[in-house]
Amino acid sequence: MCGIVGMIGQDLTVKRLIDALKKLEYRGYDSAGVAFCDRNGLNVRKAAGRISVLENSLGDEIESNILQGIAHTRWATHGGPSDFNAHPHTDCTGKIAVVHNGIVENFDRLREQLEMNGHVFKSATDTEVIAHLVEDHYKGDLVAALRHTLVDLEGAYAIGVIHQDQPDVIVAARKGSPLVVGCTNGSGYMASDVTPLLRYLRDVQFIEDGELACIRSGRVEIFRLDGSAVVKSPTKITWSEDSAEKGGYPHFMIKEIFEEPQTLRNAITGRIRKGLPYFRELEPLKETIEKAGSITVLACGTSFHAGLVFQRFLQDYAEIRVDIDVASEFRYKNLVLKEDDIVVAISQSGETADTLEGIRKARRCGAKIVSLTNVVGSTISRESDAVIYINAGPEIGVAATKTYVAQLSVLLLMGAGLAMIRKPGNGEIFQLVNEIEGMPTVFENVLSSADEQCQRLAREYYQFRHFMYMGRGYSYPTALEGALKLKEISYIHATGYQAGELKHGPIALLDRDFPVFAIIPEDGLKSKTLSNIMETRARDARVVAICSVDDREVSKIVNSRIEVPKVSPPLYPLVMSPFLQLFAYYVAVARGYDPDKPRNLAKSVTVE
Ligand code: G6P
Repeated sequence: MCGIVGMIGQDLTVKRLIDALKKLEYRGYDSAGVAFCDRNGLNVRKAAGRISVLENSLGDEIESNILQGIAHTRWATHGGPSDFNAHPHTDCTGKIAVVHNGIVENFDRLREQLEMNGHVFKSATDTEVIAHLVEDHYKGDLVAALRHTLVDLEGAYAIGVIHQDQPDVIVAARKGSPLVVGCTNGSGYMASDVTPLLRYLRDVQFIEDGELACIRSGRVEIFRLDGSAVVKSPTKITWSEDSAEKGGYPHFMIKEIFEEPQTLRNAITGRIRKGLPYFRELEPLKETIEKAGSITVLACGTSFHAGLVFQRFLQDYAEIRVDIDVASEFRYKNLVLKEDDIVVAISQSGETADTLEGIRKARRCGAKIVSLTNVVGSTISRESDAVIYINAGPEIGVAATKTYVAQLSVLLLMGAGLAMIRKPGNGEIFQLVNEIEGMPTVFENVLSSADEQCQRLAREYYQFRHFMYMGRGYSYPTALEGALKLKEISYIHATGYQAGELKHGPIALLDRDFPVFAIIPEDGLKSKTLSNIMETRARDARVVAICSVDDREVSKIVNSRIEVPKVSPPLYPLVMSPFLQLFAYYVAVARGYDPDKPRNLAKSVTVE
């Protein structure tokens, strides 16, 4: 939800700042802006639309040398997307500029007071109050001014501030929204995540809630709100800069789907020993896991769908009760968790506000938090008792693809590991782990055929306005995820349903203009889903099936199909993923949309 970046130091140009900002465009892209100090003072440029609109509007100025600067790419919350509402926001003197990711919840009250005291506002945003408050508190020390400002703010923020009279410093602060800082000999940096910094440094510091950073060329100091200094050791980032580039593909999404074999390899590396799952991170919790009466899973979006597969797997193989909830519901429930109950939080970004608040609430009940995330140093990882990284590398496309397969592979292995703890000696686990180990190769072999089949299918179906995805058992989460991918990027209305539930309502929708996407692998529930396909055909609906290779029974009764390799039932959600992702991708492209930046969506949702 919005990306912020700041840079100070040698050889800095506006272009460098804009290039860094582009790495954060996946966080929001309805408007963008930049504020920088050069020898003449503070300059602010902003524009509604993508960062490229801002870039084009800068003309030759983009090459100018600057002393420091901050920039912002926006996903609107308060105030619609427009030039005026784009960040950075300035104070009445025009000397102070602020970028902000988050929501100032008490901005109405603050604005009223500030206006009564004579401040004049130029935008409809919550953020502008920060600029005016800093103005009121500024007495020659920007750190102190921001510190006093923060006392008045309620809500969530990652903030970057500059002042024309102090061009040797950027001051930043965080509460609830991610912020990372770092420096090299002659420069200093801040950003919403590490991707813009990869070009410049590998050692970064994650700012915690209630901390401020004072960033200068070659030096970063961190303080608490009471002014005391914080000393923390840096975190080393191993992601390469290339991993955040398109590498010849037209979109990040397709590039990231084609990375899936390697993603799987990275996700499972080191997690299998002597044919069995190995999770060193869970060892301190082994006793708690052995005794646990139940496990609770919480997540949002695609991560929730990965959680549904995990739930089913644990129930099947570890024979433990597993509750699952979307985090936005979980956080407002009366929790019946007990001391030492286990909560598994799944979040690619490790920053999703609802999931974060969910684990905080669970912790207050005494539960132990195991988190599964992709981002080292993310807030959720720092607030968990055990962290399992999926090691998928940066994912830039807003719709999750490679990180979903990484989540699934690690969750299946983790589920197998928990099954071994709870029910040692289950021979089936060896077989499943062996299959998971072979998945990178299966993906390598299948991707080009998947690409071809999905392009063909997309050409046939891209003009439909609705889709019903249906599946049973492990295929129900697959139906949900397939439908989510399609609606996210192609804006086609798509719903995922349990195949057996269609007859209780949704079947009323079906006709020749409402195709059904049947998820029907070779598993114990296939015959049931075959009957459901017949029911939908009887209503004139066209049926596309995703089924196992050479499935004659299915091919006889459906209009179109795509075929996946035969695997054990719990692994179908994994092997089917690239197919459903590619189908959604090609439909979006055929409809003329940019799949990397779907409207109204952001990759990391750090607001409620
Ligand atoms: C946003 C993204 C989704 C993602 C969800 C949860 O809605 O657009 O792709 O699945 O957040 O994100 P998380 O980082 O917690 O997995």
